[in-house]
Amino acid sequence: MPDSRSFRQIMSCFATGVTVVTARDDDGTGFGITVNSVTSVSLEPPLLLFCLDKKAHVYPVFRRAKYFAVNILSENQQDVSRHFADYRHYPKPDKMWDRPQGGCPILRHTLAWMVCRKTSTFRGGDHDIITGEVVKLHKRNIQAEPLIYFHSRYRKIG
Ligand SMILES: Cc1cc2nc3c(=O)[nH]c(=O)nc-3n(C[C@H](O)[C@H](O)[C@H](O)COP(=O)(O)O)c2cc1C
Repeated sequence: MPDSRSFRQIMSCFATGVTVVTARDDDGTGFGITVNSVTSVSLEPPLLLFCLDKKAHVYPVFRRAKYFAVNILSENQQDVSRHFADYRHYPKPDKMWDRPQGGCPILRHTLAWMVCRKTSTFRGGDHDIITGEVVKLHKRNIQAEPLIYFHSRYRKIG
């Protein structure tokens, strides 16, 4: 069986966008995690999934949350991605939060956001596969390209 290092290396050839998935804990505190495993699942109803590391510090928050939001980052938001991937080393960017939607924290200056009602959680090795039904969505009217992640580095289109 291939080891996890080779698997990671191969998967790094698969270019993706970058999102921050956010949720609010019971006391109202907002949390987020940088995620590139978001995939659409179904159009009717509109369902998506993301995979969440069971060791992530936000894991218990997402276990409890009934709703979560997917924030799709633009090419100018590497600092946001870094913060939510490693908050101990990368400070919180200034004025990062927008008005909450559907009880979920929303990030500013993204390309788009979707609020989802959590529908299922499946076991997937050391990750959980979390599905959600999109209940609210918004595409911002901004001229920016998406942030891309490829070969373990941030890229821009073109
Ligand atoms: C571009 C990128 C994509 C990531 N995608 C995922 C993902 O899909 N699922 C996940 O659980 N962690 C993902 N991570 C890792 C988390 O953002 C985070 O770094 C990890 O859970 C460790 O966080 P913690 O030590 O604060 O708990 C990704 C990190 C980066 C930089």
